[in-house]
Amino acid sequence: MKFKVEDYFVPWIKGIPMYISNHIELAWQRPELHRMMSNENPNPPSPKVLEAIAKYGAMDNRYPDQGLVVRGKIAEINGLPGAANVMLGNGSSEVFDMIFRSFLEVGDEVIQHTPCFGIYKLRCQILGGKIVSVPMVYKDKQMCYDADGILNAITHKTKIIVVANPNNPTGNFMDEKDFIRIAETGIPFIVDEAYIEYAFHKSMVKLIKDYPNVLVTRTMSKAYGLAGLRFGYALGDKKVIDQISATLIPWNVGTVPMWAALAAFEDAEALKQRVDFNNSEVSFIEESLSDIPGFVIFHSYANYILFDCGATGKTGAEVLKYAQERNMILRGETEKYGSNGWFRVTIGSKEENRMFVKVVREFFGMKD
Ligand SMILES: Cc1ncc(COP(=O)(O)O)c(C=O)c1O
Repeated sequence: MKFKVEDYFVPWIKGIPMYISNHIELAWQRPELHRMMSNENPNPPSPKVLEAIAKYGAMDNRYPDQGLVVRGKIAEINGLPGAANVMLGNGSSEVFDMIFRSFLEVGDEVIQHTPCFGIYKLRCQILGGKIVSVPMVYKDKQMCYDADGILNAITHKTKIIVVANPNNPTGNFMDEKDFIRIAETGIPFIVDEAYIEYAFHKSMVKLIKDYPNVLVTRTMSKAYGLAGLRFGYALGDKKVIDQISATLIPWNVGTVPMWAALAAFEDAEALKQRVDFNNSEVSFIEESLSDIPGFVIFHSYANYILFDCGATGKTGAEVLKYAQERNMILRGETEKYGSNGWFRVTIGSKEENRMFVKVVREFFGMKD
């Protein structure tokens, strides 16, 4: 008897392709394009980070340790007792994976709040879980969190709730009282704070003390500008972090990312400069486009801005095409809330942001 390898795959991964970010592939293939689509940082790593990369790169013949120094530093920045409250991952995408593996069995449910980051759904599917999407409420030209909707979606199969703070792509925060209402359920609750450094005072890390089911995830890919380094982490109650750490692939974070991350954490001035630059550029773009009739701008607390141009009679896809013909990659969104006018820009360099404003104003027939 001859067996077929296809029949051995677990059913829930069958047919799922490798995740490829087409716009990132395109950007690497055509470096002349302006990358204003993936919420990267336009500024290269600071000299102190580059120094650490060179120094620890020279020791890459050795295995890394468990990262106690950088974990201790992260705990200190976040007012947590120590390194045992911090788990490291190869980007926060891997951190979600480890958390999901720790709580999900086949058929279990993960609640997410849409529109949101796509990786939650992908990691859930790979484990045979079911993603339950609760849409945000779009009213009065604002995208509002719906904590009641999230709470109402809970079933006996709900094993994880994930909410981003601030959300990607909408750029806004949920109220603290709603975070508390969800935390009160006791269900594992991931608060994804990938962009929190742009408004650090809004962090929900303080909830960890009273709610051991709360796990805050972070990344160095955004405000710290180290997306290519792949370094993310989870903050949580010591016992919970201990248990989730059982899923860690040994040496998942290399020596270079760990020490480069430490250098970035220690360089508070470089972070401040990046955050200040970003936040003033967000204001510049929002103000510069505020007079386009029917054009909805979602005020952002992160390094991207979402727009809905549905009421102008144009589509987001048309804006993307027009921008790409001018060497600028923006990000589209699927049709939702009866509009196909969605698109998102990532804050670029000063020059790129002015170019973006010019392109958008020109597209909508606005004077300079
Ligand atoms: C909300 C959100 N969370 C997490 C991430 C992933 O970041 P990482 O590079 O750490 O995997 C992103 C990246 O775009 C994001 O938008």
